Amino acid sequence: MHEGRHHPKVAVVGLGYVGTCIAGTLADRGLEVVGVDTDSQLIAELSAGYCRFQEAELADLISAQIAGGLLRVTTDYSEITATDVVLLTVGTPVHTDGSLEDKQLTGACLELARHLRAGQLVVLKSTVPPGTTRRTVLSLLEQSGLIGGEGFHLAFTPERLAEGTALRDLRELPIVVGGLDAESSRDAAEFWRRALGGEVIVLDSLESAEIVKLANNWWIDLNIALANELAKFCALFDVDVLDVIEAANTLRKGKGNVNILLPSIGVGGSCLTKDPWMVWHSAQQRELEIQTAPAGRRVNDGMPTYTAQLILDELTKLGKDPATAKVAVLGLAFKNNTGDLRATPTQGTVEALVKSGAEVRIYDPLVDVDRARALFGIKPAASLQEAVQDADCLAVLALHRQLEDIDFATLPVAAQCLVLDGRAYYPKEKVAALRELGYVYRGVGR
Ligand SMILES: NC(=O)c1ccc[n+]([C@@H]2O[C@H](COP(=O)([O-])OP(=O)(O)OC[C@H]3O[C@@H](n4cnc5c(N)ncnc54)[C@H](O)[C@@H]3O)[C@@H](O)[C@H]2O)c1
Repeated sequence: MHEGRHHPKVAVVGLGYVGTCIAGTLADRGLEVVGVDTDSQLIAELSAGYCRFQEAELADLISAQIAGGLLRVTTDYSEITATDVVLLTVGTPVHTDGSLEDKQLTGACLELARHLRAGQLVVLKSTVPPGTTRRTVLSLLEQSGLIGGEGFHLAFTPERLAEGTALRDLRELPIVVGGLDAESSRDAAEFWRRALGGEVIVLDSLESAEIVKLANNWWIDLNIALANELAKFCALFDVDVLDVIEAANTLRKGKGNVNILLPSIGVGGSCLTKDPWMVWHSAQQRELEIQTAPAGRRVNDGMPTYTAQLILDELTKLGKDPATAKVAVLGLAFKNNTGDLRATPTQGTVEALVKSGAEVRIYDPLVDVDRARALFGIKPAASLQEAVQDADCLAVLALHRQLEDIDFATLPVAAQCLVLDGRAYYPKEKVAALRELGYVYRGVGR
């Protein structure tokens, strides 16, 4: 990075969910940003100021920064040569055995090597198995003829934003840095301090920073698995799992409190469903058998069918035949306040309901209608009203802000309609109000 330069010019390679959020945020902070992606359709959309990702504030941010000129997007890698810092944010999915599917990463690095310039700082942000920045990124970039540490600096900074709160996370979360060498670490830390102004935590190596990301997601997935099993356990005793969690979380432990997360219909998205497997596979390759990561995955993967069964059992209890019941699924995305359908657990629930013969309608104001139709094999309802007409069950599986104010009193549902709370966490007063209105309420572990 150019010493003393106050506003480094940044390239963001890979303008998916993460890259678009980062590129927009950096431009918003006054940096000149060029975004590079191989998807020409995506580039055309972004150039026109349109953002396909449904993330709070993102669409306005992108259109403003494109219009203002601080953010430019292109498929042309040669634009990278004129930048000071290159952030790599391409996708890093895993194969079914948990090994890294590194096509996007190697493709980006090979192309970057052709345009790398002496003095640049390259930072990998994509989640990878430990050792990937050193083994794959460094060696491919050195095909440029430049040597890592001398000709260019190299660091890893995990991306820890969560969809739904992505832009706030980018502005507020502490930033972790691990460099190839001390100079690379210093350079990267300095860049992040200038660029985002937040706390920067510098670790000893590329690998420690890589593992921080995996540790975070391993913990989150496993913690949710605990919450999900706790919910099933509470259901055995007719106990509200949310009461138990709230009280249990008042116990001081370690540097904070016990912090059991929330149960739900399952864990989805492109990260938590793969990163624990990345851990497991990396360990296996070195003859260590990790047991907790796969255990968490299995528990969470079982939740969509558990939820479907909950619905079917409740309908039966109400004297409604599941094979002819009408179920309106509200919220299809993998969690609240995102339009992302990747690995959404709602798919498993819908599939199980359809298999039982139920008539399933789907509705989500945030997701792309064509994608939803392709994924679920059902045409999404055009409106909430259309989805819930004569419904025997309203399955609220993702509670976006747009669904928070549903007026249950006026919905044209069937008598004794079941409200299945999959991720809404309606408070007790709301549950009581629903019962007053004639609804039957059931949550995961409630
Ligand atoms: N989505 C999240 O919430 C999230 C959160 C934290 C970390 N991450 C990690 O961040 C990384 C990116 O995730 P994402 O959700 O943005 O992925 P994504 O699939 O949405 O985006 C990847 C982008 O990279 C582009 N691309 C592929 N090959 C390329 C190449 N050779 N050159 C340039 N562009 C190329 C694709 O066209 C796509 O637009 C992953 O490693 C993921 O694990 C994601």
